[in-house]
Amino acid sequence: AEIYRAGVAGRRPRVPVGAAELERAAQRRMSRAAFAYVAGSAGLERTAQANLDAFRRRRIVPNVLRDVSARDLSVELFGVRRPTPLLLAPIGVLELARRGGDALAARAAASLGVPAVLSTQASQPMEEVAAAMDAARPGASRWFQLYWSSSRDLVESLVGRAERSGCEAIVVTLDTHVLGWRPRDLALGYLPFSRGLGIAQYTSDPVFRELVRERAARGGRTATTVTPAAVAAFASILRHHPGRLRDNLRSGEPLAAVETFLDVFADPSLTWDDLAFLRERTRLPIVLKGVLHPDDARRAVDAGVDAVQVSNHGGRQLDGEIAALDALPAVVDAVDGRLPVLFDSGIRGGSDALVALALGARAVAIGRPYVYALALAGEEGVRELLRNTIAELDITLGLAGARSVGDVDASLLAPA
Ligand code: FNR
Repeated sequence: AEIYRAGVAGRRPRVPVGAAELERAAQRRMSRAAFAYVAGSAGLERTAQANLDAFRRRRIVPNVLRDVSARDLSVELFGVRRPTPLLLAPIGVLELARRGGDALAARAAASLGVPAVLSTQASQPMEEVAAAMDAARPGASRWFQLYWSSSRDLVESLVGRAERSGCEAIVVTLDTHVLGWRPRDLALGYLPFSRGLGIAQYTSDPVFRELVRERAARGGRTATTVTPAAVAAFASILRHHPGRLRDNLRSGEPLAAVETFLDVFADPSLTWDDLAFLRERTRLPIVLKGVLHPDDARRAVDAGVDAVQVSNHGGRQLDGEIAALDALPAVVDAVDGRLPVLFDSGIRGGSDALVALALGARAVAIGRPYVYALALAGEEGVRELLRNTIAELDITLGLAGARSVGDVDASLLAPA
């Protein structure tokens, strides 16, 4: 009602309300390379498209005459009741959208009681973002997303910092042990890495800094992580930033930092057994992000983690992969109520959120749309986007004939 009243009062929205228009507006505002990094997906982008199509293949079948005058969007997660079932997905390199973007987006989430999941690939150290969130709302909920490094010491250090920064959960992303093949990015020189962006979580870390010093002392200049993206990143530094390379070579350190990052960014040798290392080192709830196979969902239960997140990274990693929404029902079945199932990849509004909740998700994470809102209107833009999503979810819930998120299940859905 507030949004309609604002319209009547002649106040214009800061960010376009429709997802497609939002993306187009952000594209006009952002640099070509920055937009390519955010919007781009793996390969022919079939999975990215499938994520959206999966929502179009499901229709809501409402119930009528249910007294939906009072509606409750709250959900319980890790022993805490949250005002909405929304999360801010971890997104790296938010400085591509706006300087200081990590703190701005997280503050917007904080103001609405939406947990912000802070990325390992962030542009600002988690301590800084946590402080900015506390200034907006003391104790605002944040979680830490972990890219499991090939350096165990670094994993331990990041997790310790997350605990000290008041993070409530560790979200381990499992679909990025090798970086995806992303043509839009590669064509433009892989902007984040070629500029050494998105490594603030690392360069602010004492263990990482020690690794950099060791590498600089050795004088080594070759990446040992031979992924196509790593190769492209170095080719790009040479091609587009010869000056930077010269400076780096003179001082040794910055280039060593980028190289060390590429060395330690991921550990493709990770197995289920390694989870014990993390379990032993933190009492925080552990979320496994990027679970799509029901067998893996069952293993997650056995591994003693606290939640799984059905996600295909917005189609940015494995092209041809199943749409995240299509993977959700089988994972929910496999878990059989023993763990909460979170969801992301393709949520573009409140109605999408309702569909994912109806298929058994406990909460859903917003990804790209908030990056676009951040690029267009900063903290206020992200807040408006989240408020719109919450409003649409609330309206959709009422129109579907449900009073609370807990009332929503697959009986409300039919195939298109
Ligand atoms: C991401 N995602 C991501 N995930 C993660 O675990 N750590 C990260 O650092 C990032 N970084 C990142 C950057 C950008 C630009 C995008 C678009 C995505 C994936 C993210 O958390 C989420 O899974 C997807 O964004 C969901 O897909 P949609 O809804 O954005 O299409």
